[in-house]
Amino acid sequence: MTLDTFFQAKSIAVIGASREPGKIGHTIVKNLVSGGYTGKIYPVNPNATDILGRKCYPSLSAVQEPVELAVICVPAAIIFPVVKNVIKKKVNAVIVITSGFKEIGNHRDEMKLARMFKKAKIPCIGPNCLGVFDAHTKLDTLFLPIERLKRPQAGTISFISQSGALGSAMLDLAAAAGLGFAKFVSYGNAADVNENHLLDYLDADEQTRVICLYIEGLADGKEFMRVARKVRKPVVVIKGGHSAQGSKAALSHTGSIAGESGIYSGAFKQTGLIEVDDLEDMFGIAHVFEKLAVTPRGKRVQIITNGGGHGIVTTDAVAANHLLFAELSANSNQVLKKNLPAICSIANPLDIVGDATAERFILAVSTCLKDPKVDALVVNILPQTPTVDHDKAAQALQKMNITKPVVLVTTGGEFAARVTRKYEAIGLPVYQYPSQAVKALAAYVSRSIA
Ligand code: COA
Repeated sequence: MTLDTFFQAKSIAVIGASREPGKIGHTIVKNLVSGGYTGKIYPVNPNATDILGRKCYPSLSAVQEPVELAVICVPAAIIFPVVKNVIKKKVNAVIVITSGFKEIGNHRDEMKLARMFKKAKIPCIGPNCLGVFDAHTKLDTLFLPIERLKRPQAGTISFISQSGALGSAMLDLAAAAGLGFAKFVSYGNAADVNENHLLDYLDADEQTRVICLYIEGLADGKEFMRVARKVRKPVVVIKGGHSAQGSKAALSHTGSIAGESGIYSGAFKQTGLIEVDDLEDMFGIAHVFEKLAVTPRGKRVQIITNGGGHGIVTTDAVAANHLLFAELSANSNQVLKKNLPAICSIANPLDIVGDATAERFILAVSTCLKDPKVDALVVNILPQTPTVDHDKAAQALQKMNITKPVVLVTTGGEFAARVTRKYEAIGLPVYQYPSQAVKALAAYVSRSIA
């Protein structure tokens, strides 16, 4: 099955488009109209003549032109005549936003829905989902108003989420953090299209570099193992419903049988997926894959810092994440000793102390990049000190031939956020905390070095 239409459809019908601002069917049309989607939009509602200035159609069959994607948001009680019309129209793909199926024990209607679309060979996402957001084409079926949920900029992270609310809240955070997205899919009950189809699709998707996956249960465990084994891109996964209580919640959320968490963890390990426990780690790790494209040669990490405490915390994180500590070569030692003030500590961490200037950072980073005994760098640039000219440091870093993984840490508040953006703009992954930076680096390095 091809899933292209879900992200590239040139025409969309919203069936259940509502006249009433704030209602789901209204918001979907509004987001499509105002969010930058450039294809044709056909609102469908037998009780309306126009919605948001667009002509409204009494049924899908009243639309004369071909429609590629149908988004269904009428109540479950009246869905089947709508589904029949959608099939008759021969659309290429369908998203069913509507709730009221497997998640409330209504297996009969869910199976009927799945059977109808399977028979018609029309791929269907949902029911009980938000659908998709494509940051490149701006195809957006999320019913969260853009003024309440910012969409992330176009980039290379794709996110498959069984939960719509969790996924979309993360999308909002990711947008605020400046992460770049390719595709987001909330697939709900997975009556037809499931995580296996989506993983397979995104692995081949040119815009996707790293895949994030939030699952509560698997549609087909055996197939998941087969697909996950052959996926070449990094996949960062969170399994919801670890605890007995969480497992019960998953059942009433998307009707998923959450299963033994140990079995899932084993499966993720066997297939090379990167399992994390919380959402912050998921995006922290995705971010490093989004930004870096250098192949590490080993696990020897050199820490650079202008703050002693940060150096120590970073050291602990390096040890906890099973990375190795680099030992600077004799040549690097000599260069640094000659050019740094005597108060600096030339070791690991390499502490260039609180009055470090941009020049000190530039010297430290460039020396370590050249050192054959260093494989990767964690650079703590604490932005609060008055002596670092961050424009100068960022410009110099941008000109360097960075052939090793480098992650930055800029802990702090408002000013630090501005500094972070400067370093992010030159293509480096920047983190708030050393532990996040090191965890992400460890995941990145481990994928290349067994
Ligand atoms: N074809 C098209 N539109 C139709 C229709 C038909 N056959 N019959 C009625 N409509 C119109 C209605 O007139 C209404 O428009 P109006 O507000 O202008 O009158 C619109 O479709 C919506 O119908 P309504 O009965 O008002 O439903 P609703 O908007 O209150 O709820 C859902 C519909 C799908 C949003 C709701 O049933 C639902 O499932 N909500 C939960 C969704 C969810 O959480 N999904 C999972 C997210 S992770």
